[in-house]
Amino acid sequence: MKKLRKAVLPVAGFGTRVLPATKTIPKEMLPVVDRPALQYVVDEAREAGIEHFVFVTGRNKGAIEDYFDRAYELEYSLKAKGKTEIYDALDRDTPKAGTMSFVRQQSALGLGHAIWCARDVIGDDPFAILLPDVLVKAETSCLAQMVEAYNKVGGNVIAVDAVPQERVSSYGVIAPKSREGRLIEMSGMVEKPPAAEAPSNLKITGRYILQPEIMDILKDQEAGAGGEIQLTDAMATLMNQQAFHAYEYKGQDYDCGSKIGYFEAVLAYARDHEEIGAEALEMIKRFGNQ
Ligand code: G1P
Repeated sequence: MKKLRKAVLPVAGFGTRVLPATKTIPKEMLPVVDRPALQYVVDEAREAGIEHFVFVTGRNKGAIEDYFDRAYELEYSLKAKGKTEIYDALDRDTPKAGTMSFVRQQSALGLGHAIWCARDVIGDDPFAILLPDVLVKAETSCLAQMVEAYNKVGGNVIAVDAVPQERVSSYGVIAPKSREGRLIEMSGMVEKPPAAEAPSNLKITGRYILQPEIMDILKDQEAGAGGEIQLTDAMATLMNQQAFHAYEYKGQDYDCGSKIGYFEAVLAYARDHEEIGAEALEMIKRFGNQ
């Protein structure tokens, strides 16, 4: 079994649900306390052993590329002023040269199409997908939990989590068949079903480990829900050809693509922040009592 070392992060979306902030700032760069949302996702992937990141970008997303580059003037100035702690923290987050690739999606045809745009960089390797809209706060990173499962069962593994039935129509939803601990065998999956027709209340959370054959399916995938080329539809086909499991991870996810999800993420990460956590919690309590 090939080691999982590549991840695709689709970052071409407009971020319409958090306009006007996202008119000039990519939604993935919105700060959650003191780090861009995207940095948390990269950290999650690194914890899982990911060594190469493929960003599928679009117009007006240049800030992402710059963010992962070295900032010589800033670094020089921090060093000169003896601010070594801040310098060291920046240095830790900066990726090694050659470990990030950027490809353009060019047209917004859907998540499935975005992933397919990364095919040449992925080649014959298994790869992870992390949707950076979704932050998953967990003791062991969500992708690292999935990798542990993947190392046992191989094939394809996707993260799922139970949501209230009335919310299933916003997600990809799986049809579970049998379960062993947190690993679930499936009989199918469907993108954004009406609540009454959903096969379960287990939603796909935006973390995937897939085999490269998904790219061959995506090449000819027709538009599905919302008129977009859906990754879920291609996975439903791959499921008939290869081992495919869902994994119910341990952790809490936040949808930073929506105003309220983003706000909740800021609260959660502030509450648990090393430097401001205790004070932030007091503040949150004060607000609750007002
Ligand atoms: C995408 C996927 C969906 C998944 C969701 C998780 O939908 O298509 O299957 O459940 O992310 O956030 P989107 O939110 O991009 O519409």
